[in-house]
Amino acid sequence: MGRGTTSDLQHHQLKFMIVLGIETSCDETAAAILKDETDLLSNIVSSQAVHSPYGGVVPELASRAHMQLLLPVIEEALKRADVTLSELDGIAVTRGPGLVGSLLVGLSTTKALAVSLEIPFIGVNHLEGHIFSNYLEHPTFNDPAVCLIISGGHTELYSIRDKGEYTFLGRTRDDAAGEAFDKVAKMLGLGYPGGPIIDALAQDGDPTYVHFPRALLTHDSLDFSFSGLKTAVLTYVEALHEGEIRENLAHIVSSFQAAVVDVLVEKSLRAVEHLGVRRILLAGGVAGNKALRKKFKEKTSNKDIEVFYPSPILCTDNAAMIAAAGSFRLKRGERSSLDVNAAPGMRLIAESQK
Ligand code: KG4
Ligand code: ZN
Repeated sequence: MGRGTTSDLQHHQLKFMIVLGIETSCDETAAAILKDETDLLSNIVSSQAVHSPYGGVVPELASRAHMQLLLPVIEEALKRADVTLSELDGIAVTRGPGLVGSLLVGLSTTKALAVSLEIPFIGVNHLEGHIFSNYLEHPTFNDPAVCLIISGGHTELYSIRDKGEYTFLGRTRDDAAGEAFDKVAKMLGLGYPGGPIIDALAQDGDPTYVHFPRALLTHDSLDFSFSGLKTAVLTYVEALHEGEIRENLAHIVSSFQAAVVDVLVEKSLRAVEHLGVRRILLAGGVAGNKALRKKFKEKTSNKDIEVFYPSPILCTDNAAMIAAAGSFRLKRGERSSLDVNAAPGMRLIAESQK
């Protein structure tokens, strides 16, 4: 009996060395091969160019593009990793949150592969994936931390007691931080996605040029709100002539960015103080923002607080992070069954745990 249990455990730990990650929740078609939870053998991300003229993601176009791109992207991930399909021990796929048609492309492809290869798969929460992108780069990290998830669809603060154990702290009441970047960029005719464009432009700007509102900063809660800021930028630019906007563009976007950054940094520091932890993890596309990283550094330099973030390629949507979160859960014995469905509104933790 005893022996059986030990060898079961060893078998368990030896398995899932090589996991294929698949991400199709929005407008990136991505596949990655991850060995032993942290050894990233390949990471292929194909960003769908079809949405650019629309200033945002068109769901129907996204699912169609995933259909065309996913198999070639998986093939490329295997090729770059020098791994064959038969060497895979498991598959991790994004189950939600995201666009239902896009999620279904990843999920049904995963089910077909898992059945034909006779290997297990797991549906992963996209937000947990973003958190795990930090563990990919800092494999030994296992401390209690505050995590700020800042993406195109989410702005949420969590306490992480242990890997995979979350407590909800706060979220945006309206627009997500990334959404605010995208909407302001669209308003100024800068293109999509707006975050990286504003990030680059703002480097030559004066962040104190216009004082835009910092919503909910005086408020006790750890919630956020960015729609008032977006309206304030709109009101400001509407009062200017085209030439004035062009001339001061870097200053305007830099001032907008500073307002977003100030609130994100301040609320995260409050959460850290409140919980008495010393670590902050940043996750999601906006975590790649240079001004944000700089501000965090400035504000924590004289405190015993460490801020962690993934490299930019792992901040925005990718399948490496899905493979990482999936490997962790597969190793713990978790599995999805073939009747698992896409979960477009999936939360990181159940509402009742909030
Ligand atoms: O995590 P992500 O790739 O996708 C979602 O899960 O939504 O995040 C995309 C969002 C977009 O809104 C994009 O404009 C924003 O992240 N973003 C940035 C930067 N890079 C991407 N925002 C600010 N600065 C950046 N450098
Ligand atoms: Zn994301």
